[in-house]
Amino acid sequence: MPLTQSREIAAATRLENVRYAIRDLACVADEVIQQGHKVLPLNVGDPLNFDFQTPPHIIEAVHKAMRNGKNGYAPSPGIPEALEAIRGEAARKGITTVRDVFVTSGVSETVDLCLTALLNDGEDLLTPSPDYPLYSAVLCKLGIVLNAYDLAENDGWQPERADIERKITPRTRGIVLINPNNPTGSLCTRQMLEQVAELARRHNLVVFSDEIYDKLILDFDSQGNDTAHIAFASVAPDVPCVTFGGMSKNYLVPGWRIGWGIVSGDAAAVKTYTEGVHRLLRARLCANHPEQYAIKAALEGPQGHLVEVKRKLRSRRDLTQKWCEATPRVSCVAPRGAFYAYPKIDIPESDEVFVKELIRQKHVMVVHGSGFGQKPGTQHFRIVFLPDEQTLTKAYTGIAEFIRERYDTR
Ligand SMILES: Cc1ncc(COP(=O)(O)O)c(C=O)c1O
Repeated sequence: MPLTQSREIAAATRLENVRYAIRDLACVADEVIQQGHKVLPLNVGDPLNFDFQTPPHIIEAVHKAMRNGKNGYAPSPGIPEALEAIRGEAARKGITTVRDVFVTSGVSETVDLCLTALLNDGEDLLTPSPDYPLYSAVLCKLGIVLNAYDLAENDGWQPERADIERKITPRTRGIVLINPNNPTGSLCTRQMLEQVAELARRHNLVVFSDEIYDKLILDFDSQGNDTAHIAFASVAPDVPCVTFGGMSKNYLVPGWRIGWGIVSGDAAAVKTYTEGVHRLLRARLCANHPEQYAIKAALEGPQGHLVEVKRKLRSRRDLTQKWCEATPRVSCVAPRGAFYAYPKIDIPESDEVFVKELIRQKHVMVVHGSGFGQKPGTQHFRIVFLPDEQTLTKAYTGIAEFIRERYDTR
């Protein structure tokens, strides 16, 4: 008789705190869709779900690579022409002390590899609260206890220096900055970056600077030029830093899974750590191969699509901000980059209940603040303002009605 497996296979207990609220809400949306309704998705940061198109010359570069037989494994750190293009990009960002660059399957993999290569059991990493949930997911996977520092809503969501300093312990190895930020849309000021650099020098910390949205800055002149984004590594060339960048958002190809890391700082300080990263890069073979041929085409080719993307995003940001200002119980720090707004809501129940009921009653999907982390006693929700103005207006009308009906009619 064949043996049958009768006992349940338990998942590792360290996964218990792994949450990804952005996708976890999908079950509630499915309920609503099964009842025959269309859901307005203001929850996932994928521009390709809306009226944004991948620049054709980037698609052509990958197509050509596939036709030319670039379909085998690539070198583990990435193909040489992509690495050279990323070095060029680092120079344009003002990073003068580049020690290494490598290509990964999305910034998601850069995050996973770089955190894994740094942290031993019992050590910790400072991550922002609110944060992009991948960081806490990777830390949970590694069995690392979370050590979150606050972003100050009353200071344009800048990292709270005093809170960072309070939370640094002898076991703290590094600090994560997300700039421009997901979920708040804020940009770090130069002064803040200098303060973080000072703390990193004093406490021997590595800085992970996630700059995946660095070309999506919403304050720009008529030619589309902006000066608002400042790369951490350009402010602190001596501090050990890995700058995370990628193709998903700036070049509108999230499905291609292409990201990279730029290691900078004092050469002797980063050497051993970089070798550790390369061990992991080799162990996972390589990032997607033909898609790497788009990196040079993207970084060195025409940037015209960005003018159009930023124009659309700025107008949608302005619409979002006006709505937040005009809606009772809602207030919001104006986003300055990326395509997220993170309004505060003043309601007598949790933001998770708010978000789930909003999907059920008005078929609008946003993500609850508790899915990103927030100060106790506050409630927020994250809006992705990628849809066109008409769709956003419809969604905002629904949310305003929901707030009025649920909290303000007695
Ligand atoms: C701040 C931040 N970092 C990293 C990622 C993951 O990017 P990728 O598609 O390159 O894995 C995202 C995706 O939304 C993000 O918002």
